[in-house]
Amino acid sequence: MSYLEWSDDFSLNNETIDTQHKKVIGMINGLHDSINKGDGRNKIGDLIQEMIDYTSVHFREEENFMQEIGYPDLDRHKEIHNNLINRVQDINNRIKSGELNICWEVFLFLNDWWEVHILKTDKKILKYSISG
Ligand SMILES: [Fe+2]
Repeated sequence: MSYLEWSDDFSLNNETIDTQHKKVIGMINGLHDSINKGDGRNKIGDLIQEMIDYTSVHFREEENFMQEIGYPDLDRHKEIHNNLINRVQDINNRIKSGELNICWEVFLFLNDWWEVHILKTDKKILKYSISG
């Protein structure tokens, strides 16, 4: 059984974004597995690269979607995305400078991203799109 399972309650009613959000669940589950197998440090470099690739595509798509529906809080949401990108970049720099013992920190960061950003901040987009 995976650490996190997708549920339709998480959906933003946008297939592209839902598919991308499922990838975050995949990253969390993958890292959780690696840590449990004692293999986290070997996997962390690839995972961070995946997170960098992911954020550059996904945030743009989500911002386009917000623009399309005339989401009023777009600027604030973009700022939050930029903060997340900076945090991922910071982790990447630390890994590149040899700091590999940060698997739990990355795991907690991803969990926070899931619980605070996706389930709360992103959920507001859905509330707006169905109320308008
Ligand atoms: Fe977002």
